[in-house]
Order: sequence, then C-alpha cells, then structure tokens
Amino acid sequence: MVIFENISKSFKSKNDNTLIGVVDNLSFEVEKGEFFCIVGPSGCGKSTIINLIAGFLKPENGRVLIDDCLVTKPSPKRTVVFQDHILFPWKTVAQNIEFGLKFKIPEKIQRKERVDFFLEKFRLEKFANYYPFEISGGMKQKAALARASAVEPKIILMDEPLASLDQQTRDLLQEELIKFKNEFSQTIIFVTHNIEEALFLGDRILVLTQRPAKFKTIINNPFPNPRNPDIRNKTDFINMKHKIWHLLREEII
Ligand SMILES: Nc1ncnc2c1ncn2[C@@H]1O[C@H](COP(=O)(O)OP(=O)(O)OP(=O)(O)O)[C@@H](O)[C@H]1O
Ligand SMILES: [Mg+2]
Repeated sequence: MVIFENISKSFKSKNDNTLIGVVDNLSFEVEKGEFFCIVGPSGCGKSTIINLIAGFLKPENGRVLIDDCLVTKPSPKRTVVFQDHILFPWKTVAQNIEFGLKFKIPEKIQRKERVDFFLEKFRLEKFANYYPFEISGGMKQKAALARASAVEPKIILMDEPLASLDQQTRDLLQEELIKFKNEFSQTIIFVTHNIEEALFLGDRILVLTQRPAKFKTIINNPFPNPRNPDIRNKTDFINMKHKIWHLLREEII
C-alpha cells in the first residue's frame, strides 16, 4: 500500500528566490494491486507527486510510506515510465530491456529468458534487434514499458506515458496496459491529462486542484474492470467523462 500523507512541497523561484508552493497538504492512499489515476490541470504538480513517490524528491512536510516503509530515496521496487520514453539510443530494444536486469539476474541465459518473455508479452519480438530510432513512437513506449516491467517492480509510476502518441496507438496501448495489469496485478500510479484515459484505465481517479495541488476529489470508477474498449462510446461513459471534465474546468477557469 502507498500512503501519501499530508505532503507539502515547494520550489524556489529562479527569478527572485521566493518559494512557490507546488503540493499543498495532500493525502491519498493507493491499495496494493490498484490502478490509480491522477488527473489535474496543467502545471498543477502531478509530476512532482510522481517524483515524491519515486523518492527523487523529498517533501518539506508529510511523508510517503510504501508497505509501512518510509520513502527516502529511489528504489528498484518502484520504476518510473516517463512521457518521453527514455530508452538508451545506442542499445537495441532487447538490450534496453536486458539492461535493468543485469544486477537482478546475473546469469546471462536466465536473463535472456526473461527478456524474451517480456518481448513476447508486449509483442515486440520482431523489434528485438531494432534500435530506438528505427521504431515508431508507440513501439518505443511499449519498449519502455517492457523494460520497466521486466524488473518486476512492486509499483510502476507512470507520468503521462502515452501523451505523445496518436489517438489510435494510444487507445491500443491503453488496452494492452490494462491486460498487462490484470495479468501481473502490480500497483500502478498513472498521471494523465486525458480524462477518457483515466476513466478507461483507473480503478480510482484522484482529481487535483490547480497549483499548488490539493485534494479535490476521488472518483471510484463506476465501470467494472475489465472494461471493453467499446465502452468509450457508451452514453454513461461519456457522461462520466463530462462530469470529471467539469470538475477540472472549475480549476482552470
Ligand atoms: N525541480 C524543480 N525546480 C523548480 N521548480 C520546479 C521543479 N519541478 C517542478 N517545478 C515547478 O513546479 C510546478 C509544477 O510542476 P509539475 O511538473 O509537477 O506539474 P505537472 O502537473 O506535472 O505539469 P504538466 O501538466 O505540464 O505535466 C511548475 O510550476 C514547475 O515549474
Ligand atoms: Mg507533468
């Protein structure tokens, strides 16, 4: 379980050194195995929240607990998938996936088995020997996801991982992601601007205020998992999307 407890975080302005509040006394809890989505206005502090859970940043007030342990630094138990798939350009897809496993699985043959397994899971077998510049954006994002998953972290933190993709690729990857999640039941914390994406993927959706990010509300997804891709065109789903959009609009205007 992830407990994000009474967290406040600010940064010093680079212009006049004043403190700019980015997260303000925010608390929420994420259950083990949950797909938890976070939506909020642009620039409200979403990536900062991911960085705090990852242990890249320290809060001024409050604490992050994961399975009762205080987060003080990054750990391989949590991996982050960023918007701009950070693959090593000089390594092939297979080598990228293998990279994170070097310490975890010292035995080359066993490591290769794990790489092959994840290449297959993400249907990347045909691209195993391609370099990132030789594959599409969707494939790159899949490779980044495969690399993050191969180390079998307890928690995967995703910061708008599908944002740079075209709509069709994005829809397909959402469907693959949910299949993957249902098979491996990791805890996923997923930040997105896209309300439809949050409603399609999330078991629960945390809605944030504008900066500094405060708790606005949490929505329990009324549509049960697994969600059929056609749900995106159903009236109930579209109405729910509008409801969340109105909550966000109150923050933006
Ligand atoms: N390391 C940092 N140093 C100084 N300011 C920072 C730092 N990281 C973030 N900020 C500031 O904190 C605010 C929130 O940034 P953050 O990236 O968390 O927002 P976001 O909700 O993820 O934005 P977006 O919707 O554009 O992805 C911004 O004003 C940003 O400039
Ligand atoms: Mg961000």
